[in-house]
Amino acid sequence: MSAIGTYFFTHFNYTPSLAVQSPGRINLIGEHTDYNNGFVLPAAIDKYVEVAIGKRTDGNINMAAVDLNKTATVSIQNLKPHSSQWVNYIIGVVYQAIHHISANKNNNPSQLEAINNGFDICLKGNIPSGAGLSSSAAVECAVLFAINELYDLQFNKMEMALMAQKAENDFAGVQCGLMDMFASLHGQKNKVILLDCASLEFHYYPLDLTDYSIVLFDTQIKHALASSEYNTRRQECEQGVHLIQQSHPLVKTLRDVTMEQVEKYLGPSTDTPNNIYKRCKYIVSEILRVQAAVKDLEVGAMQAFGKKMFETHEGLSKLYEVSCPELDFLVDTVQDNENVIGARMMGGGFGGCTINIIKKDALESVTQQVAASYAQQTNKELVVYVTSIEEGTHLLK
Ligand code: GLA
Repeated sequence: MSAIGTYFFTHFNYTPSLAVQSPGRINLIGEHTDYNNGFVLPAAIDKYVEVAIGKRTDGNINMAAVDLNKTATVSIQNLKPHSSQWVNYIIGVVYQAIHHISANKNNNPSQLEAINNGFDICLKGNIPSGAGLSSSAAVECAVLFAINELYDLQFNKMEMALMAQKAENDFAGVQCGLMDMFASLHGQKNKVILLDCASLEFHYYPLDLTDYSIVLFDTQIKHALASSEYNTRRQECEQGVHLIQQSHPLVKTLRDVTMEQVEKYLGPSTDTPNNIYKRCKYIVSEILRVQAAVKDLEVGAMQAFGKKMFETHEGLSKLYEVSCPELDFLVDTVQDNENVIGARMMGGGFGGCTINIIKKDALESVTQQVAASYAQQTNKELVVYVTSIEEGTHLLK
């Protein structure tokens, strides 16, 4: 039995029907572009959440979170947001699944009946929470994948990603985009995925780093501001779109907007609030940057790719204003280091990790140097993760 299966057995005293592993994610480039219908370039990593699940017959969902040492029970009838956030990550996707099946006119009533009988679920993981590696998306995807298998619901991965996003929006209260759930479910070993968040088309690119490693430097700052500021950034982008729409009614999102339009309708010569201008300028340039970065990847121009990561950081810090002093310090520290070809803050911001592409030969010396200056500057320990790119959500044998 898998380790998570054993935990399940300890809690519930019977053998689970199945177990699932679902990874966290990194994102090479394309930050805050997902909810603006732009492009992102994420990958699934070697940190994950595991769940084991078994059917009940009394209509309850019994949950055991091993790492938190907590349990909870809710009735599957009338699911609504719970006071414990970890519970929301589980019941939010169950609610979405039930809703999705009920809304489908050709649904199979026996599926609804089966799921309404409830289940036991046990979860455990090793994705640091608050580090910007999408531990919550990994939980949502693991649970949804598990119930999809358990009841043979036949959702495809994109449907599950969209349902998990809706669960995060409606139950966890974060107006996030699709990237995290998409990446957790669709990851493939040693590949990054270019997702077009407008058409939902995606394409895998082998990431041949040979002499380089992807290294995350964790500031250990928890992004407490993240969800309120995140939602504000979304609104500012929407306000920019709204202003441009008055002259260009066909513009629906910042994906449809050019740099010239940003300057003309939102720039310093207009009376648009400066924040709206800065946010939109960053997003439109980042959407273009991801497309150019993918061309670098195609021809193996990793130095050019890395340079774009630094440019992204500059934009996130100065224009989008979602960085923090610790993240800026970590990027500044490696900016002129010839062994680091690219670095930037990653994820929503206000803490969490920077993502760095570092020459393998110099890995130890660079990390020691960065850890020492980080400790001196902030009095905090730098946590370092050398990551590998792994398979997305899958069943555990
Ligand atoms: C968080 C959100 C994602 C995305 C990133 C920023 O991780 O969950 O949808 O918007 O921030 O790129």
